[in-house]
Amino acid sequence: MKPIIAPSILSANFAYLARDIEMINQSEADWLHLDVMDGVFVPNISFGFPVLKYVAELTNKPLDVHLMIVNPEKFIPEVKALGAKVMNVHFEACPHLHRVIQQIREAGMQPAVTINPATPVSFLKDIIDDVYMVLVMSVNPGFGGQKFIEHSVEKVKELRALIDQRGSKALIEVDGGVNKETGARLIAAGADVLVAGNAIFAAENPVVMIQDLKNM
Ligand code: DX5
Ligand code: ZN
Repeated sequence: MKPIIAPSILSANFAYLARDIEMINQSEADWLHLDVMDGVFVPNISFGFPVLKYVAELTNKPLDVHLMIVNPEKFIPEVKALGAKVMNVHFEACPHLHRVIQQIREAGMQPAVTINPATPVSFLKDIIDDVYMVLVMSVNPGFGGQKFIEHSVEKVKELRALIDQRGSKALIEVDGGVNKETGARLIAAGADVLVAGNAIFAAENPVVMIQDLKNM
């Protein structure tokens, strides 16, 4: 099975966002990954819903919205209004994760839970049957272009084992420092979805890079 490729526009040129989204439209990318940051949950601010409204109008790819914010449940209506397919919330930002997951599903979106590098896979045992996807962060969230944390490969293997053992259909997504080399190892470990920002936007030919990631 080929991986699902989700380019992250965090590494796009925001002054030429329409151009960069059109490049992704023309590529073999499967989803568009959108990184919302609040400067509280993570030490950076990216873009918010007024910007994403126009991104959603321009793209022809399903939206994978990754909320690196506190109280993400407050923004379920805004994410829904974008027409998003997947709404990713952080495990560390949701003391009532089970309720938030239900609310996302009730809003008609696919719920995903994201874990930071220091959060163990075992913490997902009681939520794995309720989520569409788990996003394993392979860098500390907040910035594009960071170095891949090697331990993430082991976490993906562990998560694959948990999912298979439970007979769950949850997808495994990985985000941070993904390129052709780390991506190949993540797929071998059991990942289904690869997010990539810097590897795509810094490539000489981003469309070819997306194609290479898709066909590894
Ligand atoms: C990081 C974001 C990522 C980021 C990945 O906090 O969640 O989606 O765009 O960027 P790269 O692929 O450059 O590590
Ligand atoms: Zn992300």
